[in-house]
Amino acid sequence: MVSWAITGATRGIGLGFVENLSVDPKNQVFALIRSLGTAGPLKELASQRKNIHMILTDISDPTKLDEAAAEVSKVTTGSLDVLILNAGSAGPDTAVLPPSGFHGKKEALDLEIGESIKNNLLSNIYTINSFLHLIRNGQEKKVIFISSQSGNLEFTRQTGFSTLLGYSVSKAGMNMAAAKFAVELAPEGIKTLSLSPGWVNTDAAKAVTGDPEVRKYVLNMFHKVDPNVEGPAPIDEAVSNMLRVIRNLTEADSGKFLTHHGDEEQWF
Ligand SMILES: NC(=O)c1ccc[n+]([C@@H]2O[C@H](COP(=O)([O-])OP(=O)(O)OC[C@H]3O[C@@H](n4cnc5c(N)ncnc54)[C@H](OP(=O)(O)O)[C@@H]3O)[C@@H](O)[C@H]2O)c1
Repeated sequence: MVSWAITGATRGIGLGFVENLSVDPKNQVFALIRSLGTAGPLKELASQRKNIHMILTDISDPTKLDEAAAEVSKVTTGSLDVLILNAGSAGPDTAVLPPSGFHGKKEALDLEIGESIKNNLLSNIYTINSFLHLIRNGQEKKVIFISSQSGNLEFTRQTGFSTLLGYSVSKAGMNMAAAKFAVELAPEGIKTLSLSPGWVNTDAAKAVTGDPEVRKYVLNMFHKVDPNVEGPAPIDEAVSNMLRVIRNLTEADSGKFLTHHGDEEQWF
């Protein structure tokens, strides 16, 4: 049995992980979600596959996360093999502004940065800390953060991608936090990885790049790092690629920020 916990498992990439992993009855899959409102497809799948356990929690509340970890522990008798920190969001409408666009808009800037830091960085640190005692007892001992190419300096420099300020800063910040956990926990054999999923056809991607004009604009930028990229990849393809990288993760790569191809260059 390999046990996996995935945050943000109602939709998109998170649900994709649950679908892929639960095919194998030797996997125990814990789908951590904040609400049943968007969990229809997950509930349907969980009714057919007994190795899926749905757990309601709030990743911004360490007490609720401790309770969620206790629920997982009851099933696994005190361990967890792989924790996937997938929940994330692009932030307020001001995400379309470049940094200088916030001049004279202090409140908007505070919200743009603050919301993303809360949702994409602090919540992930709370989650790791609440589940760490289970990971310590696991066989795999892996903590995976689903990051974004937007949090990479070279990607930003090469594409000229100047918007999504709070989101990009929070992803870059969490990459660093994951590296801090990696070096702290290396003596215990615990490995972390920040992993970019690529450009994936989810609700989030549709919200950010769904408009045809915006799509043309971002494709122009993306072509500067990959002339062949045509659009977002299917969820199952992105998930298969990421699982290959996760399964290959060794201590040598712990704390790195890799693409879904397992390198530091192929963002699509
Ligand atoms: N799609 C892409 O091209 C792309 C590219 C780079 C990185 N990513 C990253 O991949 C991850 C998954 O994104 P996605 O494209 O699958 O997005 P999505 O389709 O919008 O799904 C996001 C999931 O995260 C949950 N979530 C969002 N904010 C949350 C919060 N504050 N607390 C708890 N749950 C929260 C959502 O729950 P609800 O259903 O309750 O809203 C949903 O389950 C994110 O971290 C994103 O930044 C995606």
